[in-house]
Amino acid sequence: MKDTLSMTGIGIERLSFYVPEHYVSLETLAKRHGIDPAKFSRGIGQDQIAMPGHDEDIVTLAAEAARPVIDAVGGEDIDTILLATETGIDQSKAAGVYVHHLLGLGPNCRIVEMKHACYAATAAIQLACGHVARKPWAKVLVIATDVSRYDLDSSAEATQGCGAVAMIISGAPKVMEIDTVSGCFTEDIMDFWRPNYRKTPLVDGKYSALKYMNALANAWSDYQDNGGREFTSFSKFCYHLPFTRLGVKAHRHLCSLNESQAQESHFADGMTYNRKVGNCYTASLYLSLISTLETSDEDLSGKSIGLFSYGSGAVAEFFSGVVQPGYKDQLESNRHAALLDDRVALSYDEYVNVWHAPDPHDGGDVDIPKAARGQYRLARINEHKRIYERI
Ligand code: HMG
Repeated sequence: MKDTLSMTGIGIERLSFYVPEHYVSLETLAKRHGIDPAKFSRGIGQDQIAMPGHDEDIVTLAAEAARPVIDAVGGEDIDTILLATETGIDQSKAAGVYVHHLLGLGPNCRIVEMKHACYAATAAIQLACGHVARKPWAKVLVIATDVSRYDLDSSAEATQGCGAVAMIISGAPKVMEIDTVSGCFTEDIMDFWRPNYRKTPLVDGKYSALKYMNALANAWSDYQDNGGREFTSFSKFCYHLPFTRLGVKAHRHLCSLNESQAQESHFADGMTYNRKVGNCYTASLYLSLISTLETSDEDLSGKSIGLFSYGSGAVAEFFSGVVQPGYKDQLESNRHAALLDDRVALSYDEYVNVWHAPDPHDGGDVDIPKAARGQYRLARINEHKRIYERI
């Protein structure tokens, strides 16, 4: 049985992102490798890579992103936290439990960590919508948090980044109501993967980009078969953006499938923040959504947004939502702009130093010097335990 495109009254009530204080400019990387900087700025459409300090990880990024949404909506009705990441810090303990503690939420809460490459946060949102349909009073905190790392000197190095996006999914979708209809596509492929014994992923870059396009066509087709909105009814499109140039190509591809002319106004606002942050894996699509809502000059109230989520391996989903009247009052535009503007560029040597995060395999006692600009930091690793603190 297929869904109908009904208004469920469920979606995003509030959302916020966090990026650390440090970044490396792709001009620095281009100079180091003797590459024309235009290859990065135009060829892949990226300017900067956000870099976490040694005392920052997916837990601290997640807590920083979530703090403002909890302060805005309160934590009382949050009965579930779904934390999506592919940068897990533990094979057993869910990172969301540390985040729950740092945020000071009540104990009667269900928490789980979700993984499927860059797709997991979308799965988390869909599951959260289903949960709220059963329990209309409940709020679900969905957090997408990742650190994208590739080998130094590899061709993928320029597409690193990090960041977290926190969203409250509830029956009061003051930012965006999420449609019931979506289109999914799964294919067992090896385009990007990271075996347990590796710190960095293995990737077939060109193949992954081809597979992304194929998944977009198939997810869109399934979305249409399931009764989704017409192509011409969308005001904006947001894409998973490992690098923004891929999003431009994806949009052109979708337009050609729909015999339509690509217009920059349909996707460009959704790339402004991502150019400065880099790939933050599962958070990337939702950073693009925030960028669209916060940097567009248009009033998007009542307008439809199409979202394409892709996770290597591969699972993809095309879904949609309707921006709600008054959404601008729910945004953190000024705080987010300041987070991006008030950052410090790293020299090449500083970047390489930060890239090598401490990793005491013997679980030995490591005190981690303070670098984080936010409220939360990883202070110590002792007896194989990660010890976080609120500054
Ligand atoms: P590369 O092979 O070094 O780059 O790395 P290239 O030689 O293909 O050049 C890139 C573009 O720059 C080309 O444009 C060049 O022409 C252009 P295109 O032909 O593609 O249109 N160029 C220039 N432009 C202007 N001035 C110049 C200049 N020189 C060249 N002087 C690659 C590129 C994407 C392969 C690499 O960065 C990589 O492997 N990245 C990681 C993989 C990736 O991001 N894949 C994306 C799809 S998979 C995905 O999205 C999932 C993912 O997020 C993981 C997950 O799901 O968890 C990755």
